Amino acid sequence: MNIQHPRAPVATPNDLDAYWMPFTANRAFKRSPRMVVGAKDMHYFASDGRSILDGASGMWCTNAGHGRAQISEAISKSAATLDYAPPFQFGHPQAFELASRIADLAPKGLEHVFFCNSGSEAVDTALKVALAYHNVRGEASRTRLIGRERGYHGVGFGGISVGGMVNNRKMFGTLLTGVDHLPTTYDREKMAFSKGEPEWGAHLADELERIVGIHGASTIAAVIVEPMAGSTGVVVTPKGYLQKLRAICDKHGILLIFDEVITGFGRLGYAFAAERYGVVPDMITFAKGITNGAVPMGGVLVRDAIHDTFMTGPDHMVELFHGYTYSAHPLACAAGLATLDIYKKEDLFARARAMEPKWADAVMALRSEPNVVDIRTVGISAGIDLAPKTNAPGLRGFEALDGAFHNHDMMIRVAGDTICLTPPLIVSESQIGEIMDKVAKVIRAVA
Ligand SMILES: Cc1ncc(COP(=O)(O)O)c(C=O)c1O
Repeated sequence: MNIQHPRAPVATPNDLDAYWMPFTANRAFKRSPRMVVGAKDMHYFASDGRSILDGASGMWCTNAGHGRAQISEAISKSAATLDYAPPFQFGHPQAFELASRIADLAPKGLEHVFFCNSGSEAVDTALKVALAYHNVRGEASRTRLIGRERGYHGVGFGGISVGGMVNNRKMFGTLLTGVDHLPTTYDREKMAFSKGEPEWGAHLADELERIVGIHGASTIAAVIVEPMAGSTGVVVTPKGYLQKLRAICDKHGILLIFDEVITGFGRLGYAFAAERYGVVPDMITFAKGITNGAVPMGGVLVRDAIHDTFMTGPDHMVELFHGYTYSAHPLACAAGLATLDIYKKEDLFARARAMEPKWADAVMALRSEPNVVDIRTVGISAGIDLAPKTNAPGLRGFEALDGAFHNHDMMIRVAGDTICLTPPLIVSESQIGEIMDKVAKVIRAVA
């Protein structure tokens, strides 16, 4: 058969057709591209030469701001000296050093780090470790995984199964079996315009008891929650909720996993949100901020007791049949070490903590803008809910994102009709003012 190629098989540099963009309205983008070609400190540079104020840390990644020379130099040095090292049965020194540095930042007891390349892989890794842990200890009946409505845990099959976002789930078949969900902690009537952790909602952790009551604790392996649900619009955990969840998990021998892919590395003013809440989970997933977004990397911090459970049997045997070709990639480790140096030297987590009240006040001042129905703040992040347009959920949010970039030189993220603001932690007070001025204009423009 003579197969005709529908287009000339020649790559054209300015043809936007071939790249199927992730989580993107592809057709709208390609009609009016939001293209960035460079970045420095608090700004992106658009392909038409404009400076774009970054109100999103890219995608919750660049906590130390863009274009940090220390990180790019570390990456380039690593590329020149050790381009790749196989992570199965071989190692390289920076992987061990980075694991120790991350464990040093984590709550005591979480002393082991398993590396991967993204938040999604980190989540699937943590879920697999939980299942395998119970199996190794002789409680193989513990196979159920509990997530939460409005949770986002990436796009692997494990992550979308425990995740609670309908559009991420409904097209993809039966997902993992044996998954249940806690209710969301968000209730606008009870907590609208809360700064920081809402007073209402700790009792919602008791829903875990209800789930245990249906299935039996002996069938449940782990609960996974984000200390702040970022991707569904900055849903802040109510006061006391995580403490209750910890107590119920302890009572029933269920592992507690904090997905800190967003909250890790300073977003809530601490190395990990676990510290802010004084709750030590059994595992913490991380990604994004570990390399300041410069090289893909993710990982899971694991409690000693879990790790040690696997360290039995003949010592020539692999203990956990899991890992990735690019686990602890040398470039990612180099970027991670340089990033942690910057966080430490510039004391960025404490800086974020000190800036939080000013940030919260500045964001809350937007409450009188048109269509603003709720604002939530925590750490250096905020969710601003706009009322949806009639019969067109998500349209106002999309227009805000697009208008911000093209007309107001500003990058924001949106989740449906919610504007998410999460600038780099280096943001100055005057830049906070600039962000709010621009966002007010964006909101008025979509009224
Ligand atoms: C809490 C959480 N978990 C997991 C992920 C998935 O991370 P990745 O996109 O790196 O796979 C994200 C991404 O935003 C996230 O916010």
